[in-house]
Amino acid sequence: MRRAIAIALLSLAVVPATVTRSSEFAAEMPAWQVALAESKDSDAGKLIATQGKGAAIACAGCHGANGMPATGTPFPRLSGVPVEYVAKQLFDYRDGSRPNPVMSQIAKALSDAEIGSLARYYASQELPQKNRPPTVEHRRGRQLVRYGDNTLAIPACGDCHGSDDTGGGPILPPLAQPAAYTSAQLQAFRAGERHNDADRVMRELARRLSDADIQALADYYGGR
Ligand code: HEC
Ligand code: HEC
Repeated sequence: MRRAIAIALLSLAVVPATVTRSSEFAAEMPAWQVALAESKDSDAGKLIATQGKGAAIACAGCHGANGMPATGTPFPRLSGVPVEYVAKQLFDYRDGSRPNPVMSQIAKALSDAEIGSLARYYASQELPQKNRPPTVEHRRGRQLVRYGDNTLAIPACGDCHGSDDTGGGPILPPLAQPAAYTSAQLQAFRAGERHNDADRVMRELARRLSDADIQALADYYGGR
């Protein structure tokens, strides 16, 4: 009891002096993080995702209903992708650090608040259960994903990217995506065209991937 009172008194004394208004933190945060902090609702995002808004044509047309694209299309799924990652990518398409003719144009038509609520909408969509064929064997891809390749100084992808379905953290995306998409991303990192990775982590790594290894990785993740 005395301890509880002491803690209460201590917090009275300490808290007011150290509380900082959220706006004072904002300058430290990347812009996409501010957009997320300021948008709590996903309804506006759902509307744009399903119906579009001007040049931002309906996301569902390519990314599928609920962010799950139709099988056989090259579009990345958005369901199950962390909210932070979706928001960051839309900012990156908009500022050109991840150039893509289709997505850059769409992202330029979106405000910060709209990006925030689109990210929240997709984060609220459940990833459907997958039925994976158990017999597909992708030896080289699996080796790189689980162990990397010491002779080429390639770290295991899974060390950072974590679960194939849900990723390794807020801005470590899940990699279970269509093969054509994964292969395009690795080539874009390797060529330096996509340059939105902090500390050049993916660009440096991709430079050590051969065409055959990119294909092996794309096939591996395409089957996940
Ligand atoms: C005409 C088809 C099309 C439409 C419509 C579309 N996208 Fe995309 N989207 C793509 C393609 C293609 C890519 C992959 C581009 C690349 O290689 O970077 C992509 C990539 C993305 C990514 C990156 C995903 C990742 O895992 O890195 C996000 C996020 C995204 N789109 C969000 C949206 C949102 C939100 C909308 C609606 C406002 C939208 N897209 C509308 C085709 C489309
Ligand atoms: C040291 C940590 C680290 C390792 C190891 C790593 N990655 Fe990444 N990867 C990242 C980060 C961080 C990003 C997100 C960059 C950004 O913000 O757009 C990323 C993004 C990607 C993307 C883009 C996904 C998307 O939808 O936008 C692909 C594909 C990818 N990595 C593949 C790989 C593969 C394949 C390997 C193993 C050969 C690998 N990564 C190993 C950190 C890592």
